[in-house]
Amino acid sequence: MAIGILTGGGDAPGLNAVIRGVVLTGVQVHGLDFIGFRDGWKGILHEDYAPLTRHDIRGISKLGGTIIGTSRTNPFEHGGIERVREVFDKIGVDSLIVIGGEGTLAATKAMADLGLPVVGVPKTVDNDLDGTDYTFGFDTAVEIATESMDRLRTTGDAHGRCMIAEVMGRHVGWIALHSGMAAGAHAILIPEVKTSIEQVCDWVTSAKDRGRAPLVAVAEGFSLETMKDVHAERGFDEFGRPRLGGIGEVLAPMIQERTGIETRATTLGHIQRGGTPTGYDRVLATRFGMAALQTVIDEKWGRMVALRGTEIIDVALDDALGKLKTVPQERYDEARLLFG
Ligand code: F6P
Repeated sequence: MAIGILTGGGDAPGLNAVIRGVVLTGVQVHGLDFIGFRDGWKGILHEDYAPLTRHDIRGISKLGGTIIGTSRTNPFEHGGIERVREVFDKIGVDSLIVIGGEGTLAATKAMADLGLPVVGVPKTVDNDLDGTDYTFGFDTAVEIATESMDRLRTTGDAHGRCMIAEVMGRHVGWIALHSGMAAGAHAILIPEVKTSIEQVCDWVTSAKDRGRAPLVAVAEGFSLETMKDVHAERGFDEFGRPRLGGIGEVLAPMIQERTGIETRATTLGHIQRGGTPTGYDRVLATRFGMAALQTVIDEKWGRMVALRGTEIIDVALDDALGKLKTVPQERYDEARLLFG
């Protein structure tokens, strides 16, 4: 019998390090076999899989993406647990490790509730999953966003412009808060805190008055006080989620018109999710993978590995779902002291 592994949802730097952590520990320490399902739950439903051997995971910690592919397929819309059990029996899989974000882990919990021997590993660059202090991929996204803002500042300085850097963060502003603080942004705008355009312009003008080229960090899910919904001019994706991106371009002309300061916006988008994970993310992901395997060996089904302080623990999938880990008001207020 083998242990199955799948990665679901949007990718995050560190997915491959998790896979390596699971397989290397399993082979080297316990002599176990593994099967990788391609493209998330879809790989189970379509019987699209391949063995994951020690050879397959050589040197992959530093690779972005996921060597087994990912998708947002919901298994309950395509045969549900009966189909999963049928495939497991046919190919000899007796348990499953699912690496995914909120949507993927919700399906994982539902499968566990129905009796599937499954364990979860939390993943999201947005860092919005409750139950774990941090998710891997977040640190990499913050690094990329910080470096990008540093670059935006030098061109902003050269032209005396206000620069807006739009970063990921669908429901929460962790990437904007951390990268904005690291880059010394003059305003940080996050989904949790609705703000008026007048307030944003005050911060921009104050920075300009001190001879600085203003830098505004904004999360894609931010909306102004006057906006009813998030900015999603590209409609909805196939799963009914608004396609975010572009709030920076909305703010730029508003700021320019009100302050008279030439303003440019840059949307970083998927750049933040691609490429090499940071050392921190590789270590966290590897430890998550090793702990997930131990959770399987201990037959603690329906649990998810999590970071608490510096320890890796396991929590009920329930604890990680249903509630987003938003930026606390006091963390925002702390950063806000330095705006303008
Ligand atoms: O949830 C992570 C995330 O990166 C969000 O910040 C972003 O809105 C979304 O995924 C983008 O998803 P997609 O890969 O479908 O464009």
